[in-house]
Amino acid sequence: MRYRNLIDFAKKSRFRGLLRKVWRIFNKNYYPFVLGDELKTIKSVLDSGVWNMSSDDGIHVKLEKEFAKYIGVKNAVLVSSGGVAIQMALRGLGFKPGDEVIHQIDTCVACSFAILNAGVTPIFSDISLDTLKLDFDNIESLITPRTKGIIPIHMWGNSENMEKVKQIADKYNLKVIEDCCLSIGATYKGEKVGRFGDVGIFSFGSTKPLTAGEGGFIVTNDDLLAKELRTIRNWGDKTHEYGIRDQETLSWNGRLSEVTAALIYEQLKNYEKLLNTVRSNAKLIIDYVSTNPYLNIADDSSYNDNPIYSQIVLKLDKKIDKKIFMEKLRNENISVWHANFEAINSLSFFNKDRWKDWILAGDLDFVKENYSKDYKNAYIVHAKSGLGIMRNNFITEKSAKNVIKKLEKIFNDLDLGSNI
Ligand SMILES: Cc1ncc(COP(=O)(O)O)c(C=O)c1O
Repeated sequence: MRYRNLIDFAKKSRFRGLLRKVWRIFNKNYYPFVLGDELKTIKSVLDSGVWNMSSDDGIHVKLEKEFAKYIGVKNAVLVSSGGVAIQMALRGLGFKPGDEVIHQIDTCVACSFAILNAGVTPIFSDISLDTLKLDFDNIESLITPRTKGIIPIHMWGNSENMEKVKQIADKYNLKVIEDCCLSIGATYKGEKVGRFGDVGIFSFGSTKPLTAGEGGFIVTNDDLLAKELRTIRNWGDKTHEYGIRDQETLSWNGRLSEVTAALIYEQLKNYEKLLNTVRSNAKLIIDYVSTNPYLNIADDSSYNDNPIYSQIVLKLDKKIDKKIFMEKLRNENISVWHANFEAINSLSFFNKDRWKDWILAGDLDFVKENYSKDYKNAYIVHAKSGLGIMRNNFITEKSAKNVIKKLEKIFNDLDLGSNI
């Protein structure tokens, strides 16, 4: 507890910038850190004098090629964030106001807001208590004549069941937008997420598995769509991609600075090395979890075959009081989260009808019903059963072993019975 007070004091101190630097020299448990030749590559961008995306041989062009190769797709379009990537992808795929797109209720609100900012209507699905992702048993009840898309979200480094997503998408002719923002490099049955949908979306924002402060990607095998997305990225100006000075599509500034592109380029070079470390450290904790009858790993390893562990996602036994357990972990300086987010419809924008100012087309009674429902499984996970151990707890082997030691101590103190 005294340790936490010290951290709180340091955060408020006048010297917090300096203290953070000293802390980072001695404490290796935090990502991000330099993974490649970041300084050299950023300097060469600065020296080139081309700091934006205007050059055809700029660092963003090289990065787009490398990222497409890394994911295993034909095209990768670099953009300013994951949220902008979702907006642009929906526009590029032809979504119009009144069209509906389904995603799980307890993801980052950025996903729903990006859909709304594209003029499209998010429709929520409850989750499965086993995988903490889409509930495929009930998803078809959400499909209406207006449903045009589905966003599977590969939460916390775990791939969604893409076979089930594709079955539904094929049956109802839906576009698939894979949200890979929390799962860069994770695989579904041996192949990287992002290559299964019409598009895959990525983010390099803070707390993402690969970060550059900000940034995002849209990947696709559709060459024409990639051309359209590069146009949408630049306020819809058709000059570069089509050789015509005209604007046809309502668009955004989705461009990214070449300085940030250089940072992503160097981080990506050694990302798999970082993942190897993260995976082997996570395995230590997962091995411990397999010996503890009160903890279970959430997910289905038959398809989610190489997670990247943005968090280790756990399901707690009913005997464990989540609130107390989380408090104990935090007191031991282990950062934890609820696994998923709160149900999005608990936020004022949705439960105080603010959405009515923005959703102007479609079946508003159906939308209201969807936003007013109880999402029981998402509630259970958030309030009682879900727990995520954040990645900074196991970025080094030493810190992963420390987590195990702390878990053992907490379970001893909890005295839940003799079977540990
Ligand atoms: C699942 C998910 N999708 C989309 C986003 C949006 O990404 P960004 O913050 O880069 O806009 C985030 C995070 O913010 C996210 O966690």
